[in-house]
Amino acid sequence: MSRDEQKKLAAEKALEYVEDGSVVGVGTGSTVAFFIDGLARMKGRIEGAVSSSEQSTRQLQSHGIPVLDLNAVGPLKLYVDGADECDPYNRLIKGGGAALTREKIIAQASDRFVCIIDEAKQVEFLGAFPVPVEVIPMARSLVGRALVALGGQPVWREGVVTDNGNWILDVHNWRIADPVALEAKVNQIPGVVTCGLFAARPADEVIIGGKVRPIRR
Ligand code: A5P
Repeated sequence: MSRDEQKKLAAEKALEYVEDGSVVGVGTGSTVAFFIDGLARMKGRIEGAVSSSEQSTRQLQSHGIPVLDLNAVGPLKLYVDGADECDPYNRLIKGGGAALTREKIIAQASDRFVCIIDEAKQVEFLGAFPVPVEVIPMARSLVGRALVALGGQPVWREGVVTDNGNWILDVHNWRIADPVALEAKVNQIPGVVTCGLFAARPADEVIIGGKVRPIRR
């Protein structure tokens, strides 16, 4: 099965988690794009969506799905998003599409985070995919030096400006033994908005193709 077919199957399975009358948290990326297309078929049954990016907002609105402000709707029951890497404990690297900060906010605001991926995203250890870090522009060099001190090789994603007006450093060659500890360390560097490690708040369920993958305990 092709990667796109797997993404589409995962997205279709995630639609089963959507409750009538609810507001759905919606991530960003090519896998989520299939989910949004599916959500369009249910649009009369849901109140709307909270979106993690301008890109997803445009797609939701093109289907006539109301996009709501997280501050106005409060905690969400469900957040559906993709990932760039996923370990056996449902810890993730996200932010390949530069939407990591809003994604992390919505994940944190949601009771259930359902992650939809294709099998190529599964890894034993996180870190082959460079970890995106969103930084306040004036802190780019300062944060870069701090990331080197933490053993990484940051590369500025030049030309990319996030939806929040910030920049992205992609950190290569990190051997990530303890994703929870590293996430906390990176997030404490002044100038970091957030990093793309989703370890303190991992996914609750990971769907690969059409099946929920068991989590390692
Ligand atoms: C967006 O910033 C990312 O976190 C995406 O969720 C991630 O890059 C997965 O995208 P694809 O579904 O396109 O692989």
